[in-house]
Amino acid sequence: MGDSLMLAMVTTLGVVVAASDYNYSHVLELSLLFYEAQRSGKLPTDNRVSWRGDSALDDRGQNGEDLTGGYYDAGDFVKFGFTMASTTTLLAWGYLSYRDAYESAGQAKYGLSTIKWAADYFIKCHVSPNELYGQVGDFNLDHTFWGRPEDLSMSRPAYKIDTQHPGSDLAGETAAALAAVALVFRDVNPGYSSKCLEHAKQLYRFASQYRGLYHEAIKGAAQYYESTDYGDELTWAAAWLYKATDDPLFLDEAEHHYMKFRLKERPNEFFYNKKVAGVQILLAQLTRQPEYMEAAQAFCDFTVDYQKRTPKGLVYIDKFGTLCHAANVAFVCLQAADAGISPTKYREFARRQIDYMLGDSGRSYVVGFGYNYPKEPHHAASSCPTRPAPCGWDAFKWPRENPQLLKGALVSGPDENDYYKDKREEMDKVS
Ligand SMILES: *[C@@H]1O[C@H](CO)[C@@H](O)[C@H](O)[C@H]1NC(C)=O
Repeated sequence: MGDSLMLAMVTTLGVVVAASDYNYSHVLELSLLFYEAQRSGKLPTDNRVSWRGDSALDDRGQNGEDLTGGYYDAGDFVKFGFTMASTTTLLAWGYLSYRDAYESAGQAKYGLSTIKWAADYFIKCHVSPNELYGQVGDFNLDHTFWGRPEDLSMSRPAYKIDTQHPGSDLAGETAAALAAVALVFRDVNPGYSSKCLEHAKQLYRFASQYRGLYHEAIKGAAQYYESTDYGDELTWAAAWLYKATDDPLFLDEAEHHYMKFRLKERPNEFFYNKKVAGVQILLAQLTRQPEYMEAAQAFCDFTVDYQKRTPKGLVYIDKFGTLCHAANVAFVCLQAADAGISPTKYREFARRQIDYMLGDSGRSYVVGFGYNYPKEPHHAASSCPTRPAPCGWDAFKWPRENPQLLKGALVSGPDENDYYKDKREEMDKVS
């Protein structure tokens, strides 16, 4: 279910540095390798995933614009801008918050390149101030194919939003991502940072002036990554721009959106289609106003004390992307802890959720890590034999371990009774 799950995992790992049974540095390293395995386009010479090569080099916009690059969705090969952007915002937030942990794990360089790979792609997709490509590839067409991205041959249409077909959610989230990335690169690459910030400002203006839901413009996205609201993304984008610029105008706008879209209600979850908890916690960090501090606390207290759990203690928010949801709430509540809200309680909660995934439940859910990790993640590229052997639907059906080790992938997860079936055919259980 999208890369957002790994990202939360990565970001969460960054902070939990207390003594543990698990080597978080190693998991962080593996998590970043998962992103590397998901790269589309021309791979750099320092590519570390030996079974991956260049792919989708003909990805183009409706007027021939170069749209190569970015990340594939999950086990398939569509490039979804909306989930890619929300993943990137969280990845950047984690890097900004826990850079020391990345450095002590020797992963700062890889963290930066993981983030930049996405940002480079968003900049390509933003072809003019009020025009943004939000998807390359057609899901139904893509799903007739099982194989390697290097062997893709079907047509890959590109879909965009513009003033006639707006998408405040997509443009807002991409603005938030690029504002966060601008902060990440402020010292390491000031020129790149300004460029990201310029795009972020333009995208926010576009999102704000031309209101609409992106899946009405990009219809294919509705089936998989629907967005039911754009108030959270507008607020999120304005808050990130405030953090990146210190311009109080953006804070005014964020607070205005927050009121207008009634974001003070306590959400049930934190994921790409519901960013309210992240908005509340970011505003709490930025302003320290009781209103936001209380909202952040209400969300995390609810999550820690009352959210549904499996018998072994995993918060159980949704049957799709179960572990992704758990890692996401662990991450935002660590951010709340950093703002001084119930720090001991929330850090302990986050550590237990992550440790569940790494082995506390009796097995690991991270490919290539720990005891009895998943051997058959629902992931086409890693299910293929080594090139040049052919690969097709046979590889999907073969009852065997994926021949390629998809290091760092976190699978969708167990059911509400901690039961997990390690089978590629589990269509819902996308890594
Ligand atoms: C943890 O993992 C890192 C990175 O793989 C490795 O360098 C380090 O030696 C490991 N630490 C322990 C205590 O095993």
